[in-house]
Amino acid sequence: MGDTAPVLRIDGLVRRFGERTAVDGVSFQIAAGETYGLLGPNGAGKTTTISMIAGILAADAGSVHVHGVPITTAANPHKRHIGFVPQQIALFDDLTARENLRFFGGLQGLRGKALDARIAATLDMVGLSDRADDRIDAFSGGMQRRANIAVGLLHEPTLLILDEPTAGVDPQSRNQILESVEQLGTAGLSVLYTTHYMEEAERLCDRVGVIDNGRLIAEGTRRELVTQIGEHDRIVVRGDDHLQEFAAHVRHLPGVVEVSVADHSAEVSADDGAAVLAGVVTCAVEVGMAVTGVEVHEPNLESVFLHLTGKALRDRAD
Ligand SMILES: Nc1ncnc2c1ncn2[C@@H]1O[C@H](COP(=O)(O)OP(=O)(O)OP(=O)(O)O)[C@@H](O)[C@H]1O
Ligand SMILES: [Mg+2]
Repeated sequence: MGDTAPVLRIDGLVRRFGERTAVDGVSFQIAAGETYGLLGPNGAGKTTTISMIAGILAADAGSVHVHGVPITTAANPHKRHIGFVPQQIALFDDLTARENLRFFGGLQGLRGKALDARIAATLDMVGLSDRADDRIDAFSGGMQRRANIAVGLLHEPTLLILDEPTAGVDPQSRNQILESVEQLGTAGLSVLYTTHYMEEAERLCDRVGVIDNGRLIAEGTRRELVTQIGEHDRIVVRGDDHLQEFAAHVRHLPGVVEVSVADHSAEVSADDGAAVLAGVVTCAVEVGMAVTGVEVHEPNLESVFLHLTGKALRDRAD
């Protein structure tokens, strides 16, 4: 186990189902503490990819390395580094959260005080400590999902894989799940998160891989991805006077790509809107402009997906 090896490295993963190639040569890496989003529409190949990573589905080609050690469907102690949370809730309805965790912890070989301590820790991580002794069938959908995540965390994995954990839950539960995942990421766990909601990928993920038709078609931070498709952040500065003078000054700021002036506003394009914002506002003050509003617009992953595939990311009927 090389210390410098990434937590996860997959190379050229391929999986066919009959004539259909569900995953067609997917490669990416996840570093320690990184939250990586696999973003793609229904049928893109997300679940198939992570099932091969977790070693529950055989790959037709390619490799999976966890902490530098190859993983296949064969038994391998290194699989313990992975916590896998499937999309379907896999809990006993008529048991409490604690009883479920005790059962699944037992399957992982945890016993006694060590198990009790892990149960307390994982319930805390997903914000369910105060509901530990309530039955699962008395939980909301979002709470059930968080209990499901706690099961995946019991054996202290270094990589947590979550398959669309917010699919089909109400907005409040969704937010609770996202908060739990955010906290896990902050706590230093590596997370692989699949979703077809670009807002979730933008909020949670350090890096995003965009997957479509079984292929990874782009990868990077939101900023890297929007730069790759040639889009810029836009700052709209509203005001009525000194607009031309303002534009002439702003044009010379480092990081500013373009400035255009309209009747009651100026629009500044920049690679990083937040980075030039203070300079832009200072320019307005210096030329004596009475600013009535400032807005920063950042292109999102939806525009990246649309640009790359010519189709909308979200299945609107979902
Ligand atoms: N067991 C299987 N047998 C046959 N085809 C399959 C099987 N599993 C997946 N597929 C096909 O592989 C493709 C990728 O499916 P996959 O479940 O990986 O997509 P996904 O990105 O997870 O989609 P979703 O967002 O809907 O969960 C689809 O065309 C699907 O029909
Ligand atoms: Mg899926």
